[in-house]
Amino acid sequence: MAPIDPHSFTDSSHPLTTHVALSLYLDFNTSIIHGSALLTLSSAFSGDLSLDTRCISIDMVLDPLTLEPLPYRVSTTPDRIRGTEVVVVLSGQSSLLIVYSTSPSASALQWLSPLQTFSKLHPYVYTQCQAIHARSIFPCQDTPAARIRYDVVMNIPNSLSAVMSARHVRRRLAVPEEAKHLEAGSLGSSLWCGEDRVVEEFAMEQPIPPYLFAFAVGELGFREVGPRTRVYTESAAVEVLDAAALEFAGTEDMIKQGEKLFGDYEWERFDLLVLPPSFPYGGMENPRMVFLTPTVIKGDATGAQVVAHELAHSWTGNLITNINNEHFWLNEGFTTYAERRIVEVVQGADRATLNIGIGWRGLTDEMERFKDNLECTKLWNKQEGVDPDDVYSQVPYEKGFQFVLRIERQIGRTAFDEFLKKYIATFKFKSIDTSTFLEFLKANIPGIEKEINLQLWTEGVGIPEDAYEPVSTIYTKIISLAKEFKEGRMPSEDDVAEWNGQEWELYLENLPKSCEPSQVMALDKRYRLAESKDYEVKVSFLQLAVTSKCREYHGEVKKTLKEVGRMKYLRPLFTALAQAGGTEEKQLAKQVFAEARETYHPIAQGVVESILSKYI
Ligand code: BES
Ligand code: ZN
Repeated sequence: MAPIDPHSFTDSSHPLTTHVALSLYLDFNTSIIHGSALLTLSSAFSGDLSLDTRCISIDMVLDPLTLEPLPYRVSTTPDRIRGTEVVVVLSGQSSLLIVYSTSPSASALQWLSPLQTFSKLHPYVYTQCQAIHARSIFPCQDTPAARIRYDVVMNIPNSLSAVMSARHVRRRLAVPEEAKHLEAGSLGSSLWCGEDRVVEEFAMEQPIPPYLFAFAVGELGFREVGPRTRVYTESAAVEVLDAAALEFAGTEDMIKQGEKLFGDYEWERFDLLVLPPSFPYGGMENPRMVFLTPTVIKGDATGAQVVAHELAHSWTGNLITNINNEHFWLNEGFTTYAERRIVEVVQGADRATLNIGIGWRGLTDEMERFKDNLECTKLWNKQEGVDPDDVYSQVPYEKGFQFVLRIERQIGRTAFDEFLKKYIATFKFKSIDTSTFLEFLKANIPGIEKEINLQLWTEGVGIPEDAYEPVSTIYTKIISLAKEFKEGRMPSEDDVAEWNGQEWELYLENLPKSCEPSQVMALDKRYRLAESKDYEVKVSFLQLAVTSKCREYHGEVKKTLKEVGRMKYLRPLFTALAQAGGTEEKQLAKQVFAEARETYHPIAQGVVESILSKYI
């Protein structure tokens, strides 16, 4: 008996789930899903089978063949990170049926009231399961070591439609028989076939880690932007849909580039769903349908860059998956590398280099953030007792990118491209750890361990000396302009004439953490950064304003924190306020969080809570 993943109750001696069939009744009035989950195991099993759940109440567990109840136990004290272990006692079954309900506070789900949507007319709900939130939607072995196929029958109001990270099979009327298990549980009878209800069916035929399970339900509309790509938004958000269709017009081109570099695209469709502003990430690589924040749509290169990243996960992350979150760099480091290869082809080498530069700055900042927690600066890091949402950082992305690039620089691009294709073909639809990667690397590039200190890169702390700080004229110029700001020099109109959001971002990120307030205000007066429509620029500037104690900007900070829920913006702003030392800043942080909390996704609520409790 040994756990196979520090974030799951799944035991190494148990068979893993290979298939899940879900019936879900979405109740928007109570923000509850009444569900049944039929889990199929890789082999028959006798004894205690451990499953992960979080805030799920179980009505019954049945043997699906005999419909006899199966004994089960629910642990009385939930684990702060892993949630509640449910143990089902099997006697030779290879499948089990669980009838259950979710909780309104399910950590994967954000339920938006009509007022929180664009149309203000219809409710909306969406999921975010990575890293360990799928267990709040259905009981499962919530570890990427288990790869599952699934079918879903989803019962929703007929004014709405559903999309999933799966193949849409059909939309049809509900049938009474299919509700019998649910109605034996806590779903009142006849609700399933209510006249305002409809059923949407989906199937996922490729085996995926549970964190890639995803759906959204709302009044959705779409536009075709390529032969395998539609963009979806709320149908009332016509301007957003128009802008998104323009922004993502180049998607097919990127998919083709990806195929050239990394091998066939294995997921058939590559649709894009633009979520409401509370979506907690920039993007999430849900297979067949990537989820995106609306903040990336701003008419420049960044929207496409985020799509390039999530697209790259189709190979690195979704085909080859980290076996648990301790090896998260295998997902994000490779994907950041792959993203920049795509960007290099479609947007040019300069843009790719600028991205490397922004990433490098982010990486060096993280070394400062983790100076008292060096474990977090390792690629392969121990996460026993660690909540993945608390330690989310640029390290797996940017140090991972640097490691992959280090190998490329050692053996040259041609050889590396060949290696990468072979790596993907060898491990596709598998979940692997760092050692498996290193063994494969050494077997295929003989002698590589003599050229690169592989152990230092994967298990050592900090940034190895043979990492690569990018050099390009524009990068170097911006860094030196940022240095000069300290001596009182403002960049001139000429200096910034060609700058767009990413150049400003790089500039602002390279300024000292805190500056002379009058100088910060002068910079804003000249270049209107606090009003920028580009959140990267706006938030970088506001962070500088807060740490420099420019209190004039507190109104803008508050407004920003109330209109978006992307954690990339919440984290630095709440941290700056909470760390600032002044009571006024701390007060503001508390007040804004109290007012905005309900508009954030539960994951973002948890992250802000832990920032505030650390400093206030
Ligand atoms: N898979 C991540 C998002 C994620 C990571 C969700 C960990 C939950 C836990 C996604 O691919 C990602 O990295 N998104 C970035 C986009 C970027 C690097 C272009 C983001 O959200 O900022
Ligand atoms: Zn990613």
